[in-house]
Amino acid sequence: MKKPIILGIESSCDDTSVALIRGREVLSNISTSQDIHMEYGGVVPELASRAHQKNIIPVVGLSLQRANIQQKDIVAIGFTRGPGLMGSLLVGCSFAKSLAMSLSVPLIEVNHLQAHILAHFIEGANASPPGFPFICLTVSGGHTLLVLVREYFDMEILGQTLDDAAGEAFDKTGKILGLDYPAGPIMDKLAKEGDENSFSFSRPKIDGFDYSFSGLKTSVLYFVQREMQKNPDFVKGNLPNLSASIQKCIVDILMVKLEKAVMKYGVPRVAIAGGVSANSALRSAVEKRKYSLGWEIYLPKFEYTTDNAAMVAMVAQLKYERSLFSSLSVTPRARYPLNEINLEI
Ligand code: KG4
Ligand code: ZN
Repeated sequence: MKKPIILGIESSCDDTSVALIRGREVLSNISTSQDIHMEYGGVVPELASRAHQKNIIPVVGLSLQRANIQQKDIVAIGFTRGPGLMGSLLVGCSFAKSLAMSLSVPLIEVNHLQAHILAHFIEGANASPPGFPFICLTVSGGHTLLVLVREYFDMEILGQTLDDAAGEAFDKTGKILGLDYPAGPIMDKLAKEGDENSFSFSRPKIDGFDYSFSGLKTSVLYFVQREMQKNPDFVKGNLPNLSASIQKCIVDILMVKLEKAVMKYGVPRVAIAGGVSANSALRSAVEKRKYSLGWEIYLPKFEYTTDNAAMVAMVAQLKYERSLFSSLSVTPRARYPLNEINLEI
């Protein structure tokens, strides 16, 4: 039987992305990120939605061209319904509806967080996909979740951040250091030249599996202000050491709860997902546990860590196989809790 080809659209934040997937095989996965936000030090929602509006048609065209697929070969349109920025989601949702109507194919809504997690099932994302159950540390610019994944559509949130997300912790502390947005990948690079034990920052004391990163941001801010009073070139002269020390603190905070969750639930099969799962220190911290604690680990290929449409197309494929289609009157959801996906089947 011919495997169905699905077009996926991701527009929840500042990346306009379109992918084509055949079964589990990605045929194309094209993204344009929006440099415009760099000068503002964060995503400006109004500018993001305008840029999506401008980019979406060219990105669809390019994705079809790269995959060498005709519109008539597409059997369904998947799109990110949320969570995300409302204006950005509206562009993707409206475009997906129009395309589904014009091609007379079903429309399939996708939860962005579920997509980050299920990106592990894309062919080639890993040597092999994880078996169930597994624990997924889902870390991005907007979310930090510890998730027990029992099945594709059965996920339990074990813990989540009470304030900033891990990606925000990188971006906001990076901003204090004068780095461009998004600071996460820049700090990752700088950290390679620095000593992670140069400086120490505050760690949250929170019970259970929840996270908090706002204390770290404040601790970095006060520390930098104090040091700059003594030496105005402090940040300039210490960027690699500062980046490495902040990165170590974020990774340690993430790993403490991840280790606890693995122990408590007795599930030593661990995946990481989301933009921050591209971080080299986090990846090596997880990798270390493979040897020291015998974890079975899943680190996604870099192209499936930050926002991308292939992961959306992947979930759409799983929903297509279960005939889980959306109505044309579906509307985006800026808040769309991950555990609500359990009710969808
Ligand atoms: O998943 P994503 O692309 O978008 C959201 O859904 O939020 O994640 C973006 C976040 C940003 O905060 C960015 O700084 C962070 O992921 N990020 C990284 C790295 N690459 C992206 N953080 C640390 N190290 C990286 N290499
Ligand atoms: Zn994301």
